[in-house]
Amino acid sequence: MAPALLSARGLAKTFGGVVAVADVTFDVPAGEIRAIIGPNGAGKTTIFNLITGIFPLDRGEISFRDHGLNGLSTWQRAQLGIARTFQNLQIFTNMTVLENAMVGRHRQSRAGLLAAAFRTPGSRREEARIREHALACLGVVGLEARRDDPAGSLPFGQQRLLEIARCLATEPTLLLLDEPAAGLNLAETDALGRLILSLRRRGITILLVEHLMDLVMGISDSVLVLNYGQVLAQGSPEAVQNNPAVIEAYLGAEVADA
Ligand SMILES: Nc1ncnc2c1ncn2[C@@H]1O[C@H](COP(=O)(O)OP(=O)(O)O)[C@@H](O)[C@H]1O
Ligand SMILES: [Mg+2]
Repeated sequence: MAPALLSARGLAKTFGGVVAVADVTFDVPAGEIRAIIGPNGAGKTTIFNLITGIFPLDRGEISFRDHGLNGLSTWQRAQLGIARTFQNLQIFTNMTVLENAMVGRHRQSRAGLLAAAFRTPGSRREEARIREHALACLGVVGLEARRDDPAGSLPFGQQRLLEIARCLATEPTLLLLDEPAAGLNLAETDALGRLILSLRRRGITILLVEHLMDLVMGISDSVLVLNYGQVLAQGSPEAVQNNPAVIEAYLGAEVADA
């Protein structure tokens, strides 16, 4: 088997008395779309926060491209190639669509914001490169034509795409998507599924937290099921859907609700 791009071992995180993540171990091979599913409060977003370094781990280890992540800042992790979107959309609504996409790229910029402020010739060239690259990322999600509009004027579904474009501008190896289909209509959800598949074809590995089972089961190579901060099952979409423990804990409840 190919070596894992991301390897998580014995992850644990407690908030006050609440055990958000109890003991979670999994690998993400390069080039996969790996879904993480589970009921509300199962610990999915916390795992994203642990991978991106928003919170330190209580216990456990995460390695990415053979770098141990413990002790690295969110910024250092982004530099290594980890990008994420947020469950609650984080868009600068007063900035243009293009400026929003460029924010992602500025994080990677060599000249940095200080040089940009002085507008040296080098920083102007860098700025032009950043703009061109951000435009290309807007093209990937189909938002090029909206580049000069205020981001806040986009319909909600397109704001979600803009957040993905901003991630792409950092040239991620691993992209974490936290409920990207929340609030999208059926057509937008289909388009999102095709976009995620196209990102995999570009060589980006995807970790997908999502409630929408049609989307998850339709595009994922493998699925990790969390329940109360622990791994309940993992495997192919078919194996997970037929796992009695999963049906009982999670999918069964969905079917019963339907
Ligand atoms: N920053 C935080 N402070 C306190 N409790 C938190 C925090 N983040 C998550 N939790 C708690 O951890 C548990 C898991 O939350 P979360 O990872 O957001 O679940 P999910 O994304 O699967 O719905 C929940 O009980 C939640 O209330
Ligand atoms: Mg969540």
